[in-house]
Parts: sequence; C-alpha cells; structure tokens
Amino acid sequence: MFYNLARSIMFKTDAEASHHFALGSLKALQHTPMSMLWSQQVPHKPVTIAGLTFPNAVGLAAGLDKNADCIDAFAQMGFGFIEVGTVTPRPQYGNDKPRLFRLPAANAIINRMGFNNLGVDNLVENVKKAKFRGILGINIGKNKDTPNEQGKDDYIICMRKVYQYASYITINISSPNTPGLRDLQFGDALLDLLKALKTEQQLLAGKHSKYVPLFVKIAPDMDAIAVQQVAEALISSQMDGAIATNTTLDKSSVADLPHGQEMGGLSGKPVQAKSTAIIAQLRAAVGPDFPIIGVGGIDSLAAAQEKLAAGANLVQVYTAFIYQGPALVKSIVNGL
Ligand SMILES: Cc1cc2nc3c(=O)[nH]c(=O)nc-3n(C[C@H](O)[C@H](O)[C@H](O)COP(=O)(O)O)c2cc1C
Repeated sequence: MFYNLARSIMFKTDAEASHHFALGSLKALQHTPMSMLWSQQVPHKPVTIAGLTFPNAVGLAAGLDKNADCIDAFAQMGFGFIEVGTVTPRPQYGNDKPRLFRLPAANAIINRMGFNNLGVDNLVENVKKAKFRGILGINIGKNKDTPNEQGKDDYIICMRKVYQYASYITINISSPNTPGLRDLQFGDALLDLLKALKTEQQLLAGKHSKYVPLFVKIAPDMDAIAVQQVAEALISSQMDGAIATNTTLDKSSVADLPHGQEMGGLSGKPVQAKSTAIIAQLRAAVGPDFPIIGVGGIDSLAAAQEKLAAGANLVQVYTAFIYQGPALVKSIVNGL
C-alpha cells in the first residue's frame, strides 16, 4: 500500500532522481518511527553456507545501496542479508547522466551508472554507524581510471579497508560499465587476480583473527566453455563462492521498447532465464558443495525457487524490488 503510493509518485520522475530521493528518505528516516512504513517481520528460515548462517535466503543485490547509507532500512524490510557497493578505492562520479532507464513494459532496467560511489573510506564510516548486526556483504571494484594491469591493487586496497566490517566480500569483475572490467573474468588475468586476493585474504584472516569469505560475481554473457573455465579458476584459487549473475549486454529482447537500445547492462525479467542457465552450468562444474548466490530477474517465489532448483543456495533481488517494493521479500521468504 505504502510502496504502491511511493512508486506511483517516483515512477513519474526521472529514474535516477527518484532513486536518490528514495535512498535519501530511507537514510533520513531509518532510525525514526517513520521506519514503520516499510518495516516487516519475515519468518526465520536459516541457511548456512561458507560458514555463515543467513537468517533467510533472500538478500539485497549490490548496486542499490552503493555507499551503505541505508543498511538499517533494508534490514527493517526483512532481507536475510544485505550487499552494499560496488565501492572503489577513490570516489568517482560514474558515467554522464542520464544513465539509468526503466523499461516497465519488460519489468526491466538498463543502467550504465559506472560505479558512481563516494569511495571505500566513506562506505566504511557508514557501515560503522549502522546498527545492523546481520550478514553484510561488501562488494568491491576498481576505479575507472585504474588500468586493468593494476586493477588487482584496487581490489586489495578495498579488501584491506572493508575486511573487518564485512561478513563476506564480493569481487565484482562483471559490471559491463567499467571498460575492460569483464576481461578480468578470463584466462591468466582471472587466475592472477584471484591468486593475489586469496593471499591477501589469508594475511587479513591472521591479522583480524576472522575468516571473511570471498565471493566472485560473474556476468551472464558467457558460453558454456567460459563458465567451465571460470568454475575451474574459482575452485583452484580456493574462492569461497560465486554470485551469478550481473546484468546482461544482450538487449535483443527489449530492442523495440522505449530506451531498449540504451548502452549499459539490462536487468530484471529479460535476464532471468539467462542467469538461471549460468547457475545450472556453474553448479554442474563446481559440484554440490560450492556456495552459489543466484541473482537475475527474480520477481516472485516461483522465480526464486527456479534459481534454487538450478543450484543456487541463496538468492538476491534488485530490479523486481524496485518494481514491487518490500512485499516481494516477504512473499518469497514466506513461501520458501
Ligand atoms: C541500477 C543498477 C545498478 C547496479 N549496480 C551494481 C553494482 O554496483 N555492483 C554489482 O555487483 N551489481 C550491480 N548491479 C547488478 C545487480 O546487483 C544484479 O546482479 C542484476 O541487476 C541482476 O539482478 P536483477 O535482475 O534482480 O536486477 C546493478 C543493477 C542495477 C539495475
């Protein structure tokens, strides 16, 4: 009811402006009685993977709360875990506006935000201020102007800064909006990066007496051979899990719709089947015990169940959450 009203107002204005308005409101009101507008109780249905016990299987995907401003508000909505970021070492503006487009006829979004964020130090300050003590994922990336050959350093800078505050850390090498980033998903570049991150994780685990799992977030735009190679790299580098998938560059299904040919990554319903297929291929390649978080077009209990049936242990939502609001979280958790 509240969300339907808020949505009908927000969907009349520019997508990014309403995004900032919504986040600003959540941030300002999350510690006031107004938070009852979105707070809800969801059943406790714990899932344990990678040594972490998640109170329920439905998480908030990365990119909505890039600076970790609204962790407590999202916790009040009943998410079983919250992933903030992508954050980079230095603040960056991202791509020129407009860079966020709704495609309501397809229940989809196209974005080319380009890791707009206020930098890792700001994120850490926000995490420290939050009251939330649940499962917090921190998703890290590299600055646009860092060459790929030095990309590793950016991930390590972020890892060192967020390590003690994160339940898990996501290595984002699958955004389509940072030129060259997806190249890190393949061949020696991938092995090199993961090896360095594993070494750093071991050092940090000793230093902080805490083991923080590393999850690698991958793109849906891969053929079966590429998925197999990524899977082998994740296993050989002793990564702790995968998040599949990010947005897709394949916009053929929306090409005729308004904004359907915008540059950027497509999310929501049009990526649903594609990401499920990647999860199934990944699960077949990594075996039964490797943690996988499924994300991409989950808009209902049935869609969440499809991801789990394909091999995901947990799910995340973004685009359908924008369209449906907190009720989506509750209906999925209730039904699982
Ligand atoms: C506007 C927007 C911004 C996003 N930003 C990020 C990001 O910063 N980091 C990231 O790993 N994924 C990001 N994503 C991808 C989502 O986390 C998710 O993987 C993808 O949208 C597929 O899920 P969905 O269909 O439920 O939206 C973004 C998605 C959208 C729509």
